[in-house]
Amino acid sequence: MSRIIVVSNRLPSPRSSAGGLAVALTDCLSATGGVWIGTSEDIATEPGQRLRPLDETESLFVKMGFDLTRQEHENYYLGYSNSVLWPVFHGRADLMDYREEYDISYHALNARLAAMIAGLLRPGDLLWVQDYHFLPLAAELRRLGVSNAIGLFLHIPFPDTNDLQVIPDHVELLRALLDYDLIGLQTQRDVNAFLGSCRTCAGAELMIDGSVSAFGKRTAVASFPIGIDTEGFALEASRTLPPRHVEDPERQHLIIGVDRLDYSKGLPQRFLAYERLLETHPELAGRVSFLQIAPPTRSGLRAYSEIRAELERLAGCINGAHADIDWTPLRYIHRALPREQLGSLYRRARVGLVTPLADGMNLVAKEYVAAQDPENPGVLVLSRFAGAAEQMTEALLVNPHDRGAVAQAIHRALRMPLGERRARHASLMRKLLEEDITWWSTTYLKRLRDTVWHRKIVTAQ
Ligand code: ADP
Ligand code: F6P
Repeated sequence: MSRIIVVSNRLPSPRSSAGGLAVALTDCLSATGGVWIGTSEDIATEPGQRLRPLDETESLFVKMGFDLTRQEHENYYLGYSNSVLWPVFHGRADLMDYREEYDISYHALNARLAAMIAGLLRPGDLLWVQDYHFLPLAAELRRLGVSNAIGLFLHIPFPDTNDLQVIPDHVELLRALLDYDLIGLQTQRDVNAFLGSCRTCAGAELMIDGSVSAFGKRTAVASFPIGIDTEGFALEASRTLPPRHVEDPERQHLIIGVDRLDYSKGLPQRFLAYERLLETHPELAGRVSFLQIAPPTRSGLRAYSEIRAELERLAGCINGAHADIDWTPLRYIHRALPREQLGSLYRRARVGLVTPLADGMNLVAKEYVAAQDPENPGVLVLSRFAGAAEQMTEALLVNPHDRGAVAQAIHRALRMPLGERRARHASLMRKLLEEDITWWSTTYLKRLRDTVWHRKIVTAQ
């Protein structure tokens, strides 16, 4: 029987629950079963040559892990993946730190992983590769003679051509991408950016069926906006009691933000917008409270320690200037919380603030809406630069760089009449229920199967 084999850098684990990819694919594979391959959390002294089953027995799917060496963690993960691809793909080419040793390690890891996976594959298996850590994986597998269907889903934005060209080996990256049968992107904007880069950098031809042809290869490309387990999340949020010590809802309106502490999430801009709200609406003193949960991520990289220091400074300044003996305007928690607790906090919050400067999708935006009480829902203030903005048009869409506009949107959300809140929420929920995580994975996998089927017919003619 054909299996679904998912490959991602990170496997789900109780120690690292934050991150859209791990959350979304746990939901998906729990429904379909299959094999999930990713990095173990152990550090090896020598590059491992075999995948090993990870013994977490309660799982509904098989997890296979490979160990990274300390050097691979630094060069492949922190280096090429998160100091070259991540900043460039999020419009921060200025933060790119390209080094040859990063490039070599990234390609060597992909080649090694391809060899390990090739030994495991059976005919008919579908391989579904996740994210920017493995852009050259299909090319490496093809080199080894693997002819199985291989799809890629990119969880982060695809950059504009000018940004992409900052990466020294960008043409090689594009050439490698064309070895996938199907490239899935989050939004239509990403599809256009990808096709634009293929045309400009590789003279690619765009075919009427939406595929792209270059380097003598052809790949299908389409957007598949990732969803969440909407029903499950809504149910859990409605059942879980809010943690104690959350202020009395009659007295204070809660505004909530939940993000990994990443520079792409626009957190300093968000703090400053909140300060603008306090300055322009002094009547809100003592009546609103902003809770920002921002767990650490990718520690060891300067860009991340810098953003942390900046945020701590801003939180101190804002509280210093505005707090009172019985009121803390801004609470900032620098650690992950259990997911059940997140749901009930979202439900308690009158405003969900999701204001990234760039984001592939942003699942927090979807979780916030799903967690609301339909009878008395809160309002989502959403950056137009989050992939989610393409679907979630009934949120209050904002430019996260414009702190006056964000402050105004928060104010509007706080004052929004119940009827309007209900109507916006109902319409957002309809889409979230239609295009949930199961829709995402089944639509993607069906398209992958169809693409390969079509390729076989064309080759046979
Ligand atoms: P990204 O993939 O860039 O981290 P997303 O918003 O798409 O951003 O996904 C983040 C996921 O991680 C969400 O499912 C969210 O619930 C979870 N998450 C984020 N912050 C925390 C936290 N502090 N505690 C627990 N889970 C978190
Ligand atoms: O969704 C984007 C993403 O980079 C995922 O690939 C990743 O799992 C998540 O954000 C968190 O990042 P990291 O795995 O580096 O902690």
